[in-house]
Amino acid sequence: MRSLVGGRTLLEEQPKLTVRSEALREGRIRQGRSPNPMKVGVVTVADIPKDSDFIKAGDARLVIFTTPQTSISQVEQLRALGVEVFVNDSARVDLRKMMRTLKKIGVDHLMVEGGGTINFELMRLGLVDELLIYVSPMIFGGANAPTPADGFGLPREDAMQTKLTDAERWDDGGVLLKYKFL
Ligand SMILES: NC(=O)c1ccc[n+]([C@@H]2O[C@H](COP(=O)([O-])OP(=O)(O)OC[C@H]3O[C@@H](n4cnc5c(N)ncnc54)[C@H](OP(=O)(O)O)[C@@H]3O)[C@@H](O)[C@H]2O)c1
Repeated sequence: MRSLVGGRTLLEEQPKLTVRSEALREGRIRQGRSPNPMKVGVVTVADIPKDSDFIKAGDARLVIFTTPQTSISQVEQLRALGVEVFVNDSARVDLRKMMRTLKKIGVDHLMVEGGGTINFELMRLGLVDELLIYVSPMIFGGANAPTPADGFGLPREDAMQTKLTDAERWDDGGVLLKYKFL
């Protein structure tokens, strides 16, 4: 399973996207895989610091989808750091084309880790098969807290339809809900 994040999450949060458990990393190595899954970023201007956790944390294949708004020198700098950079010829990354490219480079399963803008875009384009929602037994956030599907939103009559396929009760009191898109 590979992880994908949207541009704002990538640039503002600098996620590591690594496997936290040492036992799981070792298991992956024993199976002849890299210790961490491929990390994928979608970003209009790939102004990613070379010492960011996305690039530096853990041994992983790194892939960025971006646009011509990223300078040639920045693309070269990322490539020199071992990042595979795909530059789309449109003002925004074409997510359907991105999925085809990912398939060509060996990605069969992709876990999208947010934020809400990229989640919504991928769902709206029908590019998502399954939605996992963890309901935590805690109350936090506020009026401006991000939602799983931000973007411009949809009116009720155009709602995307899903079907609950599984509900797992976790020991910490939370529940993991799994939905398939219809
Ligand atoms: N588990 C969690 O709680 C969790 C997980 C992930 C993120 N987050 C939070 O969510 C927030 C970020 O989410 P976000 O919704 O603001 O941004 P996002 O989904 O992380 O990134 C969206 C950005 O990706 C770029 N992009 C490039 N091509 C795109 C395309 N075709 N479609 C959509 N986006 C494209 C756009 O940049 P341009 O605007 O430059 O075009 C867009 O603004 C952060 O606060 C982060 O901490 C929380």
